[in-house]
Amino acid sequence: MKIPLLDTPDVAHVLSGRTGIASRVSEIRRRVSSRGLAPALLAALQGRLARCWSVREFRMYGLSASEVSKTESDGDLRRDAIDDLLLYRPFSADEMSVEDFLSEAVQRLEQGQHVYTFAADGVLLHYSWLIAQTRRAGSDFNHEFAFPDPAAVLWSDYTRPGARGRGLQTRSIHRRLRDAAAAGETSMFIGVRADNTVSRHNIEKVGFRYWASGWIQYRFGRARRWITYAPSAPREITR
Ligand SMILES: CC(C)(COP(=O)(O)OP(=O)(O)OC[C@H]1O[C@@H](n2cnc3c(N)ncnc32)[C@H](O)[C@@H]1OP(=O)(O)O)[C@@H](O)C(=O)NCCC(=O)NCCS
Repeated sequence: MKIPLLDTPDVAHVLSGRTGIASRVSEIRRRVSSRGLAPALLAALQGRLARCWSVREFRMYGLSASEVSKTESDGDLRRDAIDDLLLYRPFSADEMSVEDFLSEAVQRLEQGQHVYTFAADGVLLHYSWLIAQTRRAGSDFNHEFAFPDPAAVLWSDYTRPGARGRGLQTRSIHRRLRDAAAAGETSMFIGVRADNTVSRHNIEKVGFRYWASGWIQYRFGRARRWITYAPSAPREITR
């Protein structure tokens, strides 16, 4: 990535902008908490401020079929189980409604995607998706990554808060990789926001290697996007 050099007056301007934003954030935080407003409102305000001045990264990782682990510790996950999807309930107000969740799921299944689920006591606790034979994948920040050859993409992983940390995402990654390899896929990709420490840890621990990053820079509401590739073998999945 090329980093532009700034003149001293530019640096002073940038720093004063940042200090101004920081003090606005703490002022808003103080006012919100003094009025006892919901954390959701604070999160929304932080999101707006992040779009004012920030740089975010979405990382893509790749793995070749020959590297997929043969271990089978993922038998409790079901594939394309409609009855599990019907057990979806939003955990909080900012999550998808049942209607939206199901209509999106139907659309994805019609496109040939596969869903992996785990439900217990009448509640859907985990779901995650697999796209077969695709040449492209998007990012949370509207990038488009083009693959050298058709590949499988693992995406849209979610574990309900009360069920987190029990290995559901990890098992689902292993299962989707095994299924994709068994279906004849030669490479698999998965993307994650750089600051999503848990998911990123899980992706890296199963052996995925860093492949590319989609960057977005916000400056007072204006967004600039670009993609950088890992230095070695930038567009291919090789060791
Ligand atoms: C990210 C998410 C899917 C993880 O699901 P999960 O089922 O809880 O994941 P797992 O139980 O498989 O993860 C267990 C691992 O995470 C680690 N972990 C747990 N909390 C952690 C934390 N705060 N920081 C770093 N690692 C953490 C555990 O140590 C464990 O690693 P280990 O096996 O090496 O000990 C879940 O948190 C979620 O749904 N988040 C919101 C949506 C999201 O971010 N989706 C991912 C998009 S890529």
